[in-house]
Amino acid sequence: VKRQREKREQSRGRQKYGELGAKSMGAKEESALKDLKEKAEMEESLLKVKSQREEDESGAGRKSMQYGEALKKDRKVVTNESIAEIARQRRSLPVFTVRDQLLQVIRDNQVVIIVGETGSGKTTQLTQYLNEEGYGRKGMIGCTQPRRVAAVSVAKRVAEEMNVELSKQVGYAIRFEDCTSRETIIKYMTDGILLRETLSDDDLDAYSCIVMDEAHERSLNTDVLFGVLRKVLTRRRDLKVIVTSATLNADRFADFFGRAPIYNIPGRTFPVDVFYSKSTVEDYVEGAVKQVIQIHLQAPLPGDILVFMTGQEDIEVTCEIIADRMSKLEDPPPLIILPIYSQLAADLQARIFEAAPEGARKVVVATNIAETSLTVNGVSFVVDAGYCKLKTYNPRVGMDALLLCPTSRASANQRSGRAGRTGPGRAYRLFTANAMANEMLESSVPEIQRTNLSHVVLLLKSLGVRDLLEFDFMDPPPEENIVKSMHGLWMLGALDSHGNLTDLGRRMATFPLDPPLAKMLLAGEREGCSQEVATIVAMLSVPSVFFRPRDREEEADAAREKFFVPESDHLTLLHVYQRWRSAGERADWCAKHFLNARGLRRAKEVRSQLIEVMKDEKIALTTCGTDWDSVRKAVTSAYFHQAAKMKGIGEYINMRSAVVCAVHPTSSLYGAGFTPDYVVYHELIYTQKEYMSCVTVVEPHWLAEMGPMFFTLKYSGGRTLNTNPEVVNEDVSTPYEDDVSAISSLQRKLEK
Ligand code: CDP
Ligand code: MG
Repeated sequence: VKRQREKREQSRGRQKYGELGAKSMGAKEESALKDLKEKAEMEESLLKVKSQREEDESGAGRKSMQYGEALKKDRKVVTNESIAEIARQRRSLPVFTVRDQLLQVIRDNQVVIIVGETGSGKTTQLTQYLNEEGYGRKGMIGCTQPRRVAAVSVAKRVAEEMNVELSKQVGYAIRFEDCTSRETIIKYMTDGILLRETLSDDDLDAYSCIVMDEAHERSLNTDVLFGVLRKVLTRRRDLKVIVTSATLNADRFADFFGRAPIYNIPGRTFPVDVFYSKSTVEDYVEGAVKQVIQIHLQAPLPGDILVFMTGQEDIEVTCEIIADRMSKLEDPPPLIILPIYSQLAADLQARIFEAAPEGARKVVVATNIAETSLTVNGVSFVVDAGYCKLKTYNPRVGMDALLLCPTSRASANQRSGRAGRTGPGRAYRLFTANAMANEMLESSVPEIQRTNLSHVVLLLKSLGVRDLLEFDFMDPPPEENIVKSMHGLWMLGALDSHGNLTDLGRRMATFPLDPPLAKMLLAGEREGCSQEVATIVAMLSVPSVFFRPRDREEEADAAREKFFVPESDHLTLLHVYQRWRSAGERADWCAKHFLNARGLRRAKEVRSQLIEVMKDEKIALTTCGTDWDSVRKAVTSAYFHQAAKMKGIGEYINMRSAVVCAVHPTSSLYGAGFTPDYVVYHELIYTQKEYMSCVTVVEPHWLAEMGPMFFTLKYSGGRTLNTNPEVVNEDVSTPYEDDVSAISSLQRKLEK
C-alpha cells in the first residue's frame, strides 16, 4: 500500500515530499514532512472549502449547514416529488409484497429476524409498517443504524415518504445531534445512541419496537446491544425486536434470541456478470480509474457506476484523477463524479441520490457505506477495489488504528450484488479469482473482536454488569482485550481495584466520549477550567478546523502558526476557538485565517451539548481565564498514560512502550524553539515514523501526581527533587478479584 501511495504521489508530481523527507528528516523544513494525515486533512478541507464557498456565495440565508439543517432545507426540493410518485415507489419495493405476512409474524413473535437483499425496503419501510399497524401508540419505534450517515439520510427519506417535517413524527439522533421532538414516533439513531439510552432507561420503556438494522455489520455497539436487549426482553414481554440482516449469519441471530423465526423477503435481483482482474493490481486507485473510464466510454447509457474504495483519502484522489482524465478526452459524454464517505458534508452526501440528468452518467465513489447501508438507484456497474479500512486495536500502543485490509468474500459478493438491482449488471473486481478464493476471509471479523473496548466496558459497568466475562456476547471479545480495557479504566480511576465502577467512572460514563476525554472534562472541573476543557474536547471531536488548500500550503501554514500556543496543541485549539468567537464567528474571518467555518460551528454545537450534560451532572462550569496551566493539568490527568520523554533533538521516547517517536510537524511544538522534557499526546500517527499528534508539554511532577501507577519522582541526595519520573509499569498490577480470576496473571503477561 505504501508503495502504491508513493507511486501515486509521484505521478501527481509530489515526489519532492518523499525525497526531501528521506534526506532531511529531523531538519525542520516544513515542506519535507507532508505525511498522509496532512494530505487527508488537506483534501478534506479542500472539499469543505469548496462547499463553504458555495455556501457563502449563496447568501446570508444559508448560514448553518449542520446535518439536520441541511436536510431540513432540502425538504423543499424533495417534496416536489409528488405524493403519488412516492406511494408508487413504496408499493414497488419487494418488502411491500410481503407486508401483511410480515406484520403477522411480528404479532406472533417477540423477536423476528428479517433477511432481505439490500434495497428491498427493510430500513425505510419496516418502521412505517409498524407505525401504520398502531405500534407507535404504545411507544416509539426505534431503528438503529451502525452508521451516522445512514441514520440521517434514512430518517430524511422516511420523513419525505410520510410527508412530515423531519424531527416531528420522524426524527433521528446521532452523537451530539438530536433531531427529535416530543411528537417523534419513528426514531432512527446510531446503535451507540440506543446503547447510551439504556443507561437512563434500562428497560427501554420509551419504545414499543426496536428494529436492529444492519445486524450483519456486527458493529461493536450492535453486538453489545444484542446482549443488553436479550435481558430487556425477559423483563418486557410487550417489546418487539426486529433484527434485519442483508443475508449471512441470520441463523446466528436467530439462535442468539432463542430460535427466533427468520423471515426472508423474496429478492428480485438480476444476474450480475463478475469479472476478475487477470493479474494482481498494483495500484487499485489507478485500476479503478481506468475501469471507470473504460465503462463510461464503452457501455451504452444509462447505467451508473459504483466504485468501492477504501476511505476518504483514496476516494478524493480517485475522483480527482477521473476528473482529470475526463478533461483530457475530446468531447466525452458527461460524467458526474460523486464521492461519499462519512465525513462528507450532508448536502454533498445527499447528491448521490439524485438521478443523473438525461444523457449523462454518474459515478459514485464510496466507502463500504454503499455496501448495504445506502442504496444508490440506477447502478449497473460496480468496480471493487477489494479493500476496506477496519478499526483495529493495537495492543502495543493500546489504541485503535484504521488499517487497510482486504475485504471479505461476503463483502465482495455484497458489493457486486449492487449492480443487479434494476437490471442485469456487471461487476469488475480489481483482484484475481485466486486472491478471492485463497486470501480473503469468508466474512469480516466482528468489530467487538478487534477494537478497544474501554468505552463499552465503562457502559456495561454502569449498566450494572459485574462480570464482563459472563456477559451475553454473541461472539465474546478476546479476554485480553477486556482485561486490557479494564486496566485502562482502572488507570484513569474509573474502576477500583476490584473492577467496580468508582464515582469518577460513573460520572465519566454519562458523557458520550472516549473515557480519557470524559476524564479530561471532569479534571477540568477540579482544576477550575471546565469550560475551557469543554471547548478543547469539542474541538477534538470534530475534523480538523485548519485547512490547507493544495496550492496555498505556505500561506495556510503561516496563518495556522499565528494561533500557536507554543506549549500545547490543546491550548492552540482553545485559542482558535476563542478567537473565532470574539471575531463574531464570521465566515470571512475564517477564510482569511484558513480555518474551516463549518468545523468551528460544529465544535460550538458539540460544546453546547457537553455543557448540557455537565449541567445535568451538576459539574461546576468554571473558567480559568488566562491561567492555562490548569488546562494542561486537566489534559495530563487524562493522557498521562500517553507520555513521552525527550531523548535527543526532535526525538522522544514513549514512556510506556519505549518506542521512539517525534512531534508531528503540524504541532505548535514543532520548531517552537524549545525542547520540553515531557509531553503527553492525544494520538499517534504512523507514517515514515511514529508521530505524536496533538501534544501538550507537561511538568514531570504532574505525571507523578496523576499517574502514580506509572511514574515516581526520584529524590537524589535526600533533598533535591530529581524530576525524572521513571517508568515503573513492571510493578503495576490490578487485582480484580471478583471479575476475572485469571486476571492477575494475564495482567502481568500483558504488561510485560
Ligand atoms: O434497507 P434496505 O436496504 O432493504 O432498503 P431501503 O434502504 O429501505 O431502501 C429502499 C428504497 O428506498 C431503495 O430503492 C432506495 O434507493 C430508496 N431510498 C432513497 O431513495 N433515498 C434514501 N435516502 C434511502 C432510500
Ligand atoms: Mg437498510
